[in-house]
Amino acid sequence: MKRVLALLLLASVLSAARPADAAALPYQDPSLPTADRVSDLLARMTLDDKLGQMTQAERAAVTASDITQYRIGSVLSGGGSAPAQNSPAGWADMYDTFQRGALATPLQIPMIYGIDAVHGNNNVLGATLFPHNIGLGATRDPDLVQRIGRATAEEVIGSGQDWTFAPCVCVARNDRWGRTYESFGENPSLASEMSTVVTGLQNGTPKVLATAKHYVGDGGTTNGTDQGDTQVTEAELRAVHLPPFRAAIQRGVGSVMISFSSWNGQKLHGHRYLVTDLLKGELGFTGFTVSDWAGIDQIDGQRGFTQAEVATAVNAGLDMIMLPTNWRLFLTYLKAAVNAGQIPMSRIDDANRRILTKKFEYGLFEQPLADRSYASTVGSAAHRALAREAVRKSQVLLKNSGNLLPLARTGKIFVAGKSADDVGNQSGGWTLSWQGASGNTVPGTTILQGIRNAIGSQATVTYARDGSGIDSSYRAAIAVVGETPYAEGAGDRTGSMSLDSTDLATIDRLRAAGVPTIVVLVSGRPLDIASQVGNWNAVLASWLPGSEGAGVADVLFGDYAPTGKLPMTWMQSVSQQPINDGDGKAPLYPYGHGLTYTTTDPEPEPQGSCRVTYTTNDWNNGFTASVSVTNTGTAPVNPWSTQWTFTAGQRVTQAWSARVTQNGTVVTATGETWNPSLAPGATATFGFNGSHAGSNPRPASFTLNGSTCATA
Ligand code: GLC
Repeated sequence: MKRVLALLLLASVLSAARPADAAALPYQDPSLPTADRVSDLLARMTLDDKLGQMTQAERAAVTASDITQYRIGSVLSGGGSAPAQNSPAGWADMYDTFQRGALATPLQIPMIYGIDAVHGNNNVLGATLFPHNIGLGATRDPDLVQRIGRATAEEVIGSGQDWTFAPCVCVARNDRWGRTYESFGENPSLASEMSTVVTGLQNGTPKVLATAKHYVGDGGTTNGTDQGDTQVTEAELRAVHLPPFRAAIQRGVGSVMISFSSWNGQKLHGHRYLVTDLLKGELGFTGFTVSDWAGIDQIDGQRGFTQAEVATAVNAGLDMIMLPTNWRLFLTYLKAAVNAGQIPMSRIDDANRRILTKKFEYGLFEQPLADRSYASTVGSAAHRALAREAVRKSQVLLKNSGNLLPLARTGKIFVAGKSADDVGNQSGGWTLSWQGASGNTVPGTTILQGIRNAIGSQATVTYARDGSGIDSSYRAAIAVVGETPYAEGAGDRTGSMSLDSTDLATIDRLRAAGVPTIVVLVSGRPLDIASQVGNWNAVLASWLPGSEGAGVADVLFGDYAPTGKLPMTWMQSVSQQPINDGDGKAPLYPYGHGLTYTTTDPEPEPQGSCRVTYTTNDWNNGFTASVSVTNTGTAPVNPWSTQWTFTAGQRVTQAWSARVTQNGTVVTATGETWNPSLAPGATATFGFNGSHAGSNPRPASFTLNGSTCATA
């Protein structure tokens, strides 16, 4: 008995002497320099360990025991690939299951989990959805974008992932491309400035690994598609498409994703000069590269991948391969290629050194399981407020005739359009699913809800998706229209880039009522609106604002005067595509265009609240005029009297449905005995014939009982 007691005493003394967290091996000792830890670990790894680290599998194509058996080093979620319980806890539970599989390997090398958190952690239900990059480019606010990166890092860690495949630092040069909205814009300097998002994602606590993508030239393909060919000189490739990667590397971006596209006919996934010599050599990128989804399959232009393609990609400088499903075959080919001397061990070791360095730097060895302490940040009020700030700052005011905007919070306002009350449309692609979807898909505030919240009880808001029910009693109409969600190739537009017939019919219905119309464009790119915009009173490019649509109302009602500037040149015609700043083509609106409010006060409500429509049918020296006067106020006007001023040569000769007299250049119209007054919302319509001395200008303004009216 005494012996047992002595042994127990000895064990307790020994355990006390060695802190619980003492590292058994050097690579497990966080006090050592990362490079030493990597070298120590690398020396202990078998070939299978090393090949597994270069393998990334999609979550639905791999199990924890596969990870253990095949030493898989990374798992990803493709767009919309989520656990059954799509909540931060559900994601963290899934992550931990996979991670325990990795920790069950002999060397216990943790796996790293990648996800497309491209506008917030958009796969996670309830996450804050920030404006897509094209809107962030419109803000011209790198600090804001850095803060968004920080908030996104919290929501990624809070949902149990380590790595986001963002930002896309692509420079979108052809608006037909379905990924235009993933770009900060057509200008390489703008995309470079916005690489602050990398700092936001990676620098701070918590931090997530960021990815600059897609290297290189994906936004410049000649046909505006992902797998297209970027046919430019090396000088243009370096001038237009390389700068944002240089900027991201200078900010320490930890990974770079290789583009599906090709450069002058050679696929980037097999391009040793661009990936190894330029990216890793000249630019000094020390992180690791990752292929795009099944990107190595495309190198030889045939379906599937071969051992030769595996060797080509790895020898070109790809460190990790996003299979994402056929990872068993990949491991077979990779091992065969190494054993056949097609891939030198030095390349395998370099890839492993790069990958392991990031895993050490991001603390995965010390805290391999999900850090659930940030779960409460997912969709938090603070993050949503930040997103709303980003929405405000991303709005670009393209047109504002008569300073119709900002709207006063009075009178009757009509809202219409397929994207007015649709958080799915306003969020765009990469929202809960890969392609996104219309409808009430995620928690958030629609643009209509934002308008209602902004107005409160001060005025009335009527909504009809198609505009039905509008009449001339409304002082303004807001049509929220544009594109429905898409991602990648599904968004490539080879034909028309106009609004669809539904949107055009909605806008026409509003205009036919004679109501001043504001068009809000919810789209991932400039649209072909030149032939219609002349009939619209105001136009706001809203881009894809995400979950916080109230930021649009902030601008519409003047709580925030618009500051957004176009990140893309806005075409005059689809035939101009691609159209970019400085290419000599005449745009509808140039790169950098963006109006603000001449005053921060809302449009002054006309006393008496009225609106006049005035149209004429002209011929040589005569014309017929049709006039409608609407009482948009809340009190009857009795008797009503409308006045305007002609030029010297214009004369009224015969009138109907009102008593019209002219004294010099001043014309007065009053009600007949049968229509002497105008009730709130009522409209008097009358007409007259007139003569002129060769010109027949429209009167500058109209009054109702002495108060200036709005004009449609
Ligand atoms: C997609 C995209 C890429 C994304 C990856 C993983 O095809 O090209 O941007 O990160 O696959 O979802």
